[in-house]
Amino acid sequence: MTAAPTLAFELPDTIAALPIRAFEFSAAACEQADAIIAQRPDALFRRLLSDQESEPVLLVARRVIDAFLRQVPDRPNAAELPPDASADDIAAQVAKIRAELAATIGSLAQIEPDARDAVVRQRAPLGLLAGCWLDVLSQPATQPSVIVNRLYTQHFIQRGEGNPRRSLHYLRRRQLEEAGIYLPEIGAADFLARADARPLTALHGSFYLALSRLPANFLPELVGLHYVFHALGVDDLLSGLEPMLPEPDLRDVLASYLKLAGLVQRGRLHAGIRLAAALEREHVAMLAELATWHQGLSLESKVAAIVARHAPYAGRHHREVRVGERLLAETFSDPDLDLAAFLREFRESRQLRRTRDGLSAFVRAFKFGGPMFGIFDEREAAIFKTWVDSVQAGQRPEIVIRANTVGDAQAGLLAAAIAASAPADVVIADVGTPSDRELFYRLVNIENFANTLPLAAQHAEELFDAAEILFTHGADGRYTDASYFDYSPEALYQRCERVYWEKLVKPYRPLEEIPDRDEVVFLQTTYALGALVDAAWIHRVANLGRFERPSDSGLFAIYADEVGHGDLRKNHITLIHRALRSMGIAMPHIRDAAFIDQDDLPDDLYGFSLHQLCMALFPDMYYNEILGYNLAIEMFGLGELRLHEIQKLGHYGFDDCYERAHLTIDNISAGHSRQAADIIVSYLDEVRRGLGEAAVQLQWRRVWRGYASLAYFVEHALLKRIAADTEPVDLFI
Ligand SMILES: [Fe+2]
Ligand SMILES: [Fe+2]
Repeated sequence: MTAAPTLAFELPDTIAALPIRAFEFSAAACEQADAIIAQRPDALFRRLLSDQESEPVLLVARRVIDAFLRQVPDRPNAAELPPDASADDIAAQVAKIRAELAATIGSLAQIEPDARDAVVRQRAPLGLLAGCWLDVLSQPATQPSVIVNRLYTQHFIQRGEGNPRRSLHYLRRRQLEEAGIYLPEIGAADFLARADARPLTALHGSFYLALSRLPANFLPELVGLHYVFHALGVDDLLSGLEPMLPEPDLRDVLASYLKLAGLVQRGRLHAGIRLAAALEREHVAMLAELATWHQGLSLESKVAAIVARHAPYAGRHHREVRVGERLLAETFSDPDLDLAAFLREFRESRQLRRTRDGLSAFVRAFKFGGPMFGIFDEREAAIFKTWVDSVQAGQRPEIVIRANTVGDAQAGLLAAAIAASAPADVVIADVGTPSDRELFYRLVNIENFANTLPLAAQHAEELFDAAEILFTHGADGRYTDASYFDYSPEALYQRCERVYWEKLVKPYRPLEEIPDRDEVVFLQTTYALGALVDAAWIHRVANLGRFERPSDSGLFAIYADEVGHGDLRKNHITLIHRALRSMGIAMPHIRDAAFIDQDDLPDDLYGFSLHQLCMALFPDMYYNEILGYNLAIEMFGLGELRLHEIQKLGHYGFDDCYERAHLTIDNISAGHSRQAADIIVSYLDEVRRGLGEAAVQLQWRRVWRGYASLAYFVEHALLKRIAADTEPVDLFI
């Protein structure tokens, strides 16, 4: 059947939202999601951040988004907007809220250093994850959308234009360090604990992370939230940093969205605006409350907080030490530890009595040479010292400890809303055994078909395994040489050079005869399915918490090039659509269900794109394989093959922009091919420094499996020869 002309996709891609679709999950994922949600907010945050590949986490994300969209705008003070509000109307509303927040934040500037430290620390998790909702907004389902690329440009800027040291995340981290706040990487297990994050902060963070897992489906809400979060600029107000995205630029993107959005999408945009405004108001109010709580703390409460923080780790270290009648080991392992009672006894104990040097046994214990040296940081040691001095001076104030419950009431409401959330669009379904076409559709729209993830992982794994056959037979490849070799940087560069000169360049002769027009078009269609998911293999790398290794920023830079840094004229998906149209090929967009039935591109070539999409969904699990695949595919476009295509397309007056762009951008001297090799070298060098030489060869083997898996799809003739010469092999292509 030929696709109906009304369904054909036309540039520019003016979507303002994806079609509304259900979210499919397996029954097992529902149970697992329940268990994740039942955990404390900090565990929820950690899971959402660290796990970007599992099915239950996508369901958790769906439920968190649902809970926040339902719960938060119910609160008073959410922004009111008429349905036809312009970007300027919205900006005016947001400016009012900003002025209000700026006043509160201004009042926090001059508070005592300890309280200020607590406030800045509390805000740090949100400041450091800001913008994560753009991490995977650009994906096969959303490219080459106008609004997605406008947002991508801002994402690229916030990512330091590919240089992590210039990224928003890094600048904020440096600012924190200048203020004396040293936090581990955001993905570290103890990150939230070190930031002293309250449950409310962890829940707000969880919402932004949830949105970053399903950005394509919540595009309208995301556009509103993106504008409000950055235009309010809470983190910039608090730190005094210049905004990285000036408000007029943000407003411009908002205005361009309003041009695309219909009434329903505007409603959803407004929901995102109201939600972001309400969340930021709530968080700033909480920071103010935290400052007040902190400033009202008695010296004893500060001491109690330190004891509470360290008690769980004190364990048996204190052996026979007693305070009052009781062993410290017992006191500190008591789940109902009464801190006030403990401090009352402690201040009368012999450990606090003045010793001849004017100190006390306790203070001496945590000084250099003492058994507790290094347990408390400088600030904690200073607080203890002041308290001991006051005790020795005879002060015996009544000990009243005020627990820190800042934000807990709101956190309780949100946690209850998440626990109760049961979005109507969540469907329990078994993935079954989808056809290639159906599987392609599901992978492109993976946010809606998370139940396909286990199948996708299995698919990728099988391909990587099968491709290892080329470790022994790959040298005879026509375009590749996947034969295995022991890794050294020199050996890798040499292999690249040899493949390039001997297999890709040397055989090149201009065509003397041009095949007929239909044949030229047909061959192009065999490449097109892969081109329509160009760069998909790296569209999920370098996300929040994974932008620390040089290899991450290297892959990010390549992906950014592939989408033209958000400039549609240079975006490779735009280029392939232009090229296909010039050949008279009009199909639905790959995200549309109608694409399942497209009959312009041959049926038996889905394997290549499926493999690419499958591995892309596991940027943590298949990081190494993706590095190798990246090298292979970037090199594949060089030399003879593409030069011939350019000649043929030119002959019939077809648009050769896609082919030409790749000939230059993928070049081996400094382009993507060279970068891809450098990325592998940099990654394995990091492995060597961290884990030693033996680990390098193990990691390398996985990298090379990735390379071989591309070769597996392009070396049909070689694979047939191998199959004929050896035992039957399972060919997946
Ligand atoms: Fe490309
Ligand atoms: Fe490329």
